[in-house]
Formats: sequence, structure tokens, C-alpha cells
Amino acid sequence: MTVSAILHYPDATLLKHSKPVKSINDDIQALIDTMFETMYQAPGIGLAAPQIGTLLRVVVIDISENKDAPLCLINPEITHLEGEADYEEGCLSVPGIYETVTRAERVSVIAQDRSGQSVKLEADGLLAICIQHEIDHLNGKLFVDYLSAMKRQRIRKKLLKQSRQTM
Ligand code: NI
Repeated sequence: MTVSAILHYPDATLLKHSKPVKSINDDIQALIDTMFETMYQAPGIGLAAPQIGTLLRVVVIDISENKDAPLCLINPEITHLEGEADYEEGCLSVPGIYETVTRAERVSVIAQDRSGQSVKLEADGLLAICIQHEIDHLNGKLFVDYLSAMKRQRIRKKLLKQSRQTM
């Protein structure tokens, strides 16, 4: 079991585009295990590989109350977005900050699971929000990017101050 450090905004790695996974080998399996461990320990309901410094298109999610419904999406792609929903979001890379973001209410996604099988998923509610949030991470986008520049700047300053205080 390995738990990794989670990068915090405005770390430059979080703003980079992640590369597709070409082969789901032992290294990728180990990465997925580390991501689940890190997410559960944090605790959070979703984590994307770039948040632990690995620029690969892998996300893990578990929105269940008992933390017993792990979902791993490799190379996920949204194929359909529908409706609109406001949700107060947080992010393990933006600790202590919660802001309302408007996203699609329903999504369809294609991806590979950790055994390499192609999966198609239709989601609504919290899962739909979480999937969109995590896929954004793979494209170097954070939920703070949906906020006004002024709000984002305030969050940036606050987190930089925190990181200086909590070495
Ligand atoms: Ni996040």
C-alpha cells in the first residue's frame, strides 16, 4: 500500500495536459492502487493521476458512502453532455476551498477499466459531476478555472500562504 503526496494548486503540474495510457501494464496497476489508497486516505471521492504528479489519463472515483464502489477510468472520453447542474465542489488539490460550479447534469463516457476492457458509462447526479471534474484534471483544468479571475486570484494567494506555513 502506497500513499502519495497530493499536489496543491497552483503547482504547475496540475495545469498540464496528461498523455493517454498506451498499455495497462504493472506500472499502471501500481499507479491505480496508489491513487485509490491516496484518495481513500485523504479522504476524497475522486483523484486524477496528475494530482500525484503523473501526467497520464487515469482517474479513480468512489462516491459510495461505505467506500466500497471503486471506479477506475483509463483514457476516459466524454461522448455526450446533457442538462445543467450547480454543485458546490471541492478538490484535494485545492484544500479548504468550496465553490459552486455549473456543469452538465448527465454525461456519457467511454473508457477502459483496469483490466483493459472498454466500458461505456452513463451517469447523473454526483457521479456525473465527479467524472467531469476528474477528466478536467487530465486536461490541466481545475474547478477554480470556472470561477472569476478575482476569486481565483484570492484562492491562489491563500493556498500559497498555506504552503509556506505548513512545510
Ligand atoms: Ni479535483
